[in-house]
Amino acid sequence: MDTKVLKIDENSLALSKEIIERGGAVAIPTETVYGLGANAFDTAAVERIFEIKGRPNDNPLIVHIHKDYDISTLVEDIPEYAKLLARAFLPGPLTMVYKSKGTVSKAVSCGLNTLAIRIPAHEGAQRFLKFVNLPIAAPSANVSKHVSPTTAEHVFADLNGKVELILDGGKSVGGIESTVLDCTGSTPVVLRSGLITREMIAKVAGECGEYVYKDGMRAISPGMKYKHYSPNCRTCLFNFDELDKAVKLYNYERANGVNAYFLCDDETAQKAKVEYVLNLGKDENEVAANLYSKLREGEKKSDLIIAVAPEKQDGVMVGVMNRLSKACR
Ligand code: TXA
Ligand code: MG
Repeated sequence: MDTKVLKIDENSLALSKEIIERGGAVAIPTETVYGLGANAFDTAAVERIFEIKGRPNDNPLIVHIHKDYDISTLVEDIPEYAKLLARAFLPGPLTMVYKSKGTVSKAVSCGLNTLAIRIPAHEGAQRFLKFVNLPIAAPSANVSKHVSPTTAEHVFADLNGKVELILDGGKSVGGIESTVLDCTGSTPVVLRSGLITREMIAKVAGECGEYVYKDGMRAISPGMKYKHYSPNCRTCLFNFDELDKAVKLYNYERANGVNAYFLCDDETAQKAKVEYVLNLGKDENEVAANLYSKLREGEKKSDLIIAVAPEKQDGVMVGVMNRLSKACR
């Protein structure tokens, strides 16, 4: 199969609609990461998504809708706090899990009675969703377990020959996947941390819990239990207070001919004073935005990524640390 990469315009939107309507998959930009979308009503199309990615079939997909789509046709029992959160943060990088009405294909939620809904803010994503006028089931557009894609080039690197069309909407500005929030209970619970932080949610909803997955537990969000976000080279991760150890390892590996790179924020890079650095940037938003592209750059040019966690670990960094620790284990 020939994979086209096209900028978003009337022609590429018309082609994407045709592909989606005949049960195919289209890669689309969002403000978090690129997604691989299919018609959520079409079971065969949804199953193809799992196949293309090599995704385990018990890890459910998020349904993406246009901001004017009538959500009450898809889910029910929407609590008051969820309406407040939707008003505050949508369109945006927040996915909300509700009780499903069972109108989309069962393959989307892998048999769960809930459905995850996301209204992306990316202008290209909104144009696409309006044009196709369907709910679109879309996981991140990477091969399962690999680093998520934040550019059309990243998608092409993973899925060339496996999808017909990649809509190129530029670099995803957010850089890590949406916050996944369980809205089926009396208070919201964060299932996956992201750019909309637990503190931001609690401010609007009054309170907000956080689900911490431990091995052996039943996963509320099945994605929690899988290996994720991993570059194709050796990796290791040090705490901020282990910087000396990380530098020692770097020097040792370099002395032995290993092409080692540091992966850290700008402040840590200044302190470490090593030559080869994948610099994630200055503040938490820059670090989130650059994380996946730097991991992909790292796997291309290095044998070993030595990651050092940022000193600041709250807010958006909770999501960054979650991805970083899964990528580097
Ligand atoms: O930012 C994002 O969320 C991106 C873009 C493309 O929108 N999508 C994304 O999809 O990250 P994916 O498939 O890589 O991750 C979806 C996460 C998984 O952890 C999955 O377990 C969880 O959402 N999820 C989906 N449906 C769920 C449900 N009904 N209940 C609980 N968790 C759910
Ligand atoms: Mg993913």
